[in-house]
Amino acid sequence: MNAPVSPPDTLRTALAALLDGLPPKQAGRAVERLVGHYRGATPTDVPILRDRADVVAYAAYRMPATFEAVRAALGEFAAAVPDFVPGRHTDVGGGTGAASWAVAATWSGGRDVTVLDWAEPALALGRELAAANPALEQASWRRERIGPALALDDTDLVTVSYVLNELTEADRASLVDAAASAARSVVIVEAGTPAGYARVIEARDRLIAAGFRVAAPCPHSAACPIVPGEDWCHFSARVSRSSLHRQVKGGSLPYEDEKFSYVAATRLPAAPAPSRVVRRLQIRKGQVLLDLCEPDEQLRRTTVTKRHGDLYRAARDTEWGDPWPPYTQEPPYTQKP
Ligand SMILES: C[S@@+](CC[C@H](N)C(=O)[O-])C[C@H]1O[C@@H](n2cnc3c(N)ncnc32)[C@H](O)[C@@H]1O
Repeated sequence: MNAPVSPPDTLRTALAALLDGLPPKQAGRAVERLVGHYRGATPTDVPILRDRADVVAYAAYRMPATFEAVRAALGEFAAAVPDFVPGRHTDVGGGTGAASWAVAATWSGGRDVTVLDWAEPALALGRELAAANPALEQASWRRERIGPALALDDTDLVTVSYVLNELTEADRASLVDAAASAARSVVIVEAGTPAGYARVIEARDRLIAAGFRVAAPCPHSAACPIVPGEDWCHFSARVSRSSLHRQVKGGSLPYEDEKFSYVAATRLPAAPAPSRVVRRLQIRKGQVLLDLCEPDEQLRRTTVTKRHGDLYRAARDTEWGDPWPPYTQEPPYTQKP
């Protein structure tokens, strides 16, 4: 059994080594070109990640953030399905492998890992980075186009991180359907923007229609109570900034917060959070205000005061994205598949 490596550190070291070979100006230019691409028209007919400079820039600039977002989503999924340990993992649109690193950081032990992407340079770099992570040494990196012909082999877990944004509506549907046919559990992560949230909800509806239940973040598998256009469900993961980040974005903060939306759905028995904190907490003198998504399909604000004793102390330790009340030993209720 492989013990989980400390992926943030290992990944950071592997990424720093990559940049060693690239003059800072060249890396900065490659990042700017990429950011420009992502601001422009996606989906595209050909891969955005065309060559090594592109993928080095992507990996150094974005991979720590996509890794942390996926790790946060997987952590909530693992809490809701505590007996689940994936023996086979398929990462679709996996690029340089951020989600595979996140899976390895969430569940120890060896597994069959397959990373699929249409950009060969991304796969090649992913393979190279993965050499630093014993859990990914045996991973298979395969060229595959997401489209109507996509068929996935049977697997325990499919991850799709920051990919739906690059696909047409028809290809998004093909991907979610292929994942639903092949996997027992599917975790989809997108940018924490109104558009990213809309793509997550579209996928969530499709997974539920295919017989899945939502394990996280939602406390239920009924319709999302958020009114599109008025708000969007998203969370935040803290990411240490690399020197490349500081070079491109300026500023001196040693971290930034990656906003993401996600859905983790499964055919397995799951115990979703009793309620979920869906905004940053407001801590006032003697009270904590929690904005919750609740199992009765409502959004509600709860105020916990000092008079609540232990619950108040728990509220002060709770963070945006956490279950409320916090999980105890026994999940409060178990959803049957
Ligand atoms: C923003 S990157 C995300 C990479 C990785 N999943 C992560 O979270 O860091 C999007 C990835 O989707 C891949 N992709 C986009 N459209 C695709 C398609 N039609 N078929 C296969 N891969 C595709 C890209 O090549 C790229 O690696």
